[in-house]
Amino acid sequence: MKAMLNDLEKILFTEEQLAEKVKEIGKQISEDFKGKNPLLVGILKGSVVFMADLMRSITIPCTIDFMAVSSYGDGTTSAGAVEIKKDLSRNIENRDVIIVEDILDSGVTLSYLVEYMGVRNPASISIVTMFDKPSGRKKEVKARYKGFEVGDEFIVGYGLDFAEKYRNLPCIGVLKPEIYKN
Ligand code: IMP
Ligand code: MG
Repeated sequence: MKAMLNDLEKILFTEEQLAEKVKEIGKQISEDFKGKNPLLVGILKGSVVFMADLMRSITIPCTIDFMAVSSYGDGTTSAGAVEIKKDLSRNIENRDVIIVEDILDSGVTLSYLVEYMGVRNPASISIVTMFDKPSGRKKEVKARYKGFEVGDEFIVGYGLDFAEKYRNLPCIGVLKPEIYKN
């Protein structure tokens, strides 16, 4: 943990702040989807930590699935193209789909996924994202639920990586520039 924390310039959100926010979102989703059985679709790999916390803060019945897509290389900027690496494991027809994403940045990934799932006749599609980086937006995407807005900086932790590292950091931090410039 110390080695990872050493690579951070600053901590943006503590473990406690993240946990509190996820509880709020879970409560809201439980109210909004009462009497329904929403399908949470986590986008791998970044959403795993958020997904694990969020599903346990949802107090109504729900099911989960995952998709894996890639729009990023190992760097910190979007490549612009989306490739499906793992598809949905079940039909989403007539389901209330909630896409669970770690961070909404350019919107390329989510706008693609909304379109991709939209043609499969779900009852509804909503987006929940733990972080929103409005400054990065290239495609218009609206998240129904969001945790925190972040500025134009690259964040890691709570599932979010830089070159596959730091996903297991329990807090959210900003990397020292020398880490990603190397
Ligand atoms: P978008 O398609 O540009 O909205 O990118 C979404 C994906 O880019 C996220 O699921 C993340 O994997 C990655 N990403 C965007 N910004 C950050 C960041 O600040 N830290 C880590 N990953 C990020
Ligand atoms: Mg990533």
